[in-house]
Amino acid sequence: MTATVVVGVGAGIAAYKMAQVVRDLMRGGHDVTVVPTPASLSFVGAATWEALSGHPAHSGVFEAGGADHVEIARRAELVLVAPATADLLARLRLGMADDLLTTTVLAATCPVVVAPAMHTAMWQDPATRENVRVLRQRGITVLDPAEGALSSGDTGVGRLPDPEVLVRAALEALGERRSADAQDHPLHGVRILVTAGGTREAIDPVRFLGNRSSGRQGCAVAAAALALGAEVTLVLANVDPGLVPEGVRVVHAPSAASMEEAVTSRLGGTDVLVMAAAVADFRPRETREEKIKKDPSTDDAPVITLERTTDILAESAHSPHRPRVVVGFAAETGSVEDVLARGREKAERKGADLLAVNAVGAGLGFGDVDNTLHLLDAHGEEVATITGSKESVARDLVDQVRVLLGTMSR
Ligand code: CTP
Repeated sequence: MTATVVVGVGAGIAAYKMAQVVRDLMRGGHDVTVVPTPASLSFVGAATWEALSGHPAHSGVFEAGGADHVEIARRAELVLVAPATADLLARLRLGMADDLLTTTVLAATCPVVVAPAMHTAMWQDPATRENVRVLRQRGITVLDPAEGALSSGDTGVGRLPDPEVLVRAALEALGERRSADAQDHPLHGVRILVTAGGTREAIDPVRFLGNRSSGRQGCAVAAAALALGAEVTLVLANVDPGLVPEGVRVVHAPSAASMEEAVTSRLGGTDVLVMAAAVADFRPRETREEKIKKDPSTDDAPVITLERTTDILAESAHSPHRPRVVVGFAAETGSVEDVLARGREKAERKGADLLAVNAVGAGLGFGDVDNTLHLLDAHGEEVATITGSKESVARDLVDQVRVLLGTMSR
């Protein structure tokens, strides 16, 4: 586990020990930027930090341009402040931003570990005690100083802990944050492509063959995946923009041909494909350039010849760029037994890892209604039946995807 670490150095005699801390972090493969307070430069100069870390060691907010502190804080995955003097603790507690280090700590959202070092009397003073309590309440890890010889010649509590203790404490805080993040965002780093809506196949410039899919289910799957931290691309065929969750990447693909292109060109960069769109199985063999007119002299109607479209799901499932998990949907009519039997046959034929079979027909399945989905595995075996709103069904479906990805047990 490596990280981008900011080491904030305060104006204590123990600042020299931080050279060892920086070296140890660098040896561990971490990217370290040192931010010394201006007063600490009397103890160890910026040249030392720059040579050790390989990065500039600024101490003032305006040294490297006004936006620097925000950039440093945004990139930081861990901030370790040591030695923290009584003055630095007080400034951190007050939320002051009068140098680059305090400003960076204010702007940081990552774990912050502070190691105070000072004379025993200062450490035990009620003002310092209160500052430490408040900082801890805010979620900052404030380590207790070690006991031993102090620079004043006295002995007592107030020494900066040894470098290895500081490094261990800092990395522990980082590990805790990362495992908490992993629990909240189990799909972090997983790239999911979801198709939604119903394609329209042009007959002439004003007419098309379409279907009644609203795109609600696909958008709900996208939202459920997004909530778990996935990187979601939504390929949309004629979906009300109000249904599209914020934070997904949107690609418009209104026809079967454009959807085929949108999906197949992205397979290589996709971990999970969810084909929730109702893609036309047939399209007019030719699209008329001009609107088809009635012939007033006869009752004849035009004959439209159809041709098959590519089965995007089957093609993707059998592609050399096949995503790790491929999920299809099937809308079937008839009794539950019929629906399941057709679903089973389709699961085997399509090659998806999961086929969500939906019973449709009079008032079932389309639009703003509850759904029942039978989830079949690649062999057509039913692994779950899920019922509820499209949102709750989507969450359950994404859980099944997690099982297949190995981030959740069934
Ligand atoms: N699908 C697809 N490309 C198509 C048609 C469908 O990728 N040209 C996908 C849908 O997105 C869905 C699944 O295939 O995930 C099932 O579609 P469906 O139309 O029910 O299956 P078909 O194979 O067309 O079977 P049937 O003719 O029985 O309807």
